Amino acid sequence: MPMPATVRLVEVGPRDGLQNEAQPISVADKVRLVDDLTDAGLSYIEVGSFVSPKWVPQMAGSADVFASIRQRAGVTYAALAPNLRGFEDALAAGVKEVAVFAAASEAFSQRNINCSISESLQRFEPIMEAARSHGVRVRGYVSCVLGCPYEGKVSAEQVAPVARALHDMGCYEVSLGDTIGTGTAGDTRRLFEVVSAAVPRAQLAGHFHDTYGQALANVYASLLEGISVFDSSVAGLGGCPYAKGATGNIATEDVLYLLQGLGIETGIDLDRLIAAGQRISTVLGRANGSRVARARSAA
Ligand code: HMG
Ligand code: MG
Repeated sequence: MPMPATVRLVEVGPRDGLQNEAQPISVADKVRLVDDLTDAGLSYIEVGSFVSPKWVPQMAGSADVFASIRQRAGVTYAALAPNLRGFEDALAAGVKEVAVFAAASEAFSQRNINCSISESLQRFEPIMEAARSHGVRVRGYVSCVLGCPYEGKVSAEQVAPVARALHDMGCYEVSLGDTIGTGTAGDTRRLFEVVSAAVPRAQLAGHFHDTYGQALANVYASLLEGISVFDSSVAGLGGCPYAKGATGNIATEDVLYLLQGLGIETGIDLDRLIAAGQRISTVLGRANGSRVARARSAA
């Protein structure tokens, strides 16, 4: 299978990255991060979540963030919505694209969104209906596709029906999340082989957390499987509040460096991206999680 000529990166740092931070982060700092990412040339930025503030306090200010970011034409600014209430709040905040999130493991579904997998899929139906009538596109996530913090191994055969259900209800793309980062390149290839029988490869994306240091290898394995959309997080920000010990997503800078080496186009400016990652790392008082950014900054 030929490597894709172009790749779209879905920047999830402001959402998947910051949602896990216990320290307060001001709306101004979140807005600055999103604006920096726009300026770096990202075409898709997940800005926040319209979820219960009791479950994920850090995302409580998402409407304020949406109200202040600079929105460049042609760039998608998206938000997570777990239920109709979240969708309506997102809509009121002017959000034009949302993401719903299900899991491949029952235990994770319960811990993350307090319902079973099938209940979650039912809960998404009214979101899909409302989204259709408002012209809002919906992306779907499946979590724990290569392992679950509570149930251990998850098979590709468990993932496929959940991905198919999201696709069938109208998600234009389904992102497969290795939430705890335990997957290897071999597991990743098999995952896409199996799931692509349920959802076309062009409508699948890879979402790799780097907890076990396998994320970049998993992106490469996915490229070999013809996958051309990847979620990543500037400076490798983040983790998941319901997956203890999970680190951030693959750093956007590191994926971009890999793609540049393969001659694959993204339209993103690496230097500006590194600057964006350095700024938010300084705000958070954290070491930059991107190896490329660390190497460039040390030079
Ligand atoms: P619940 O407690 O079962 O819901 O939570 P409920 O309907 O009983 O409502 C409880 C309270 O929450 C009520 O308030 C509701 O009004 C409120 P109270 O009466 O107690 O004051 N509420 C809301 N508030 C704001 N926005 C809403 C909303 N809905 C209800 N949308 C619920 C169910 C889904 C709401 C909750 O479990 C939740 O918000 N979970 C979100 C968890 C989350 O955001 N996790 C992180 C994102 S997923 C992820 O990171 C994985 C991913 O990156 C891929 C990967 O890595 O695998 C995507
Ligand atoms: Mg994630």
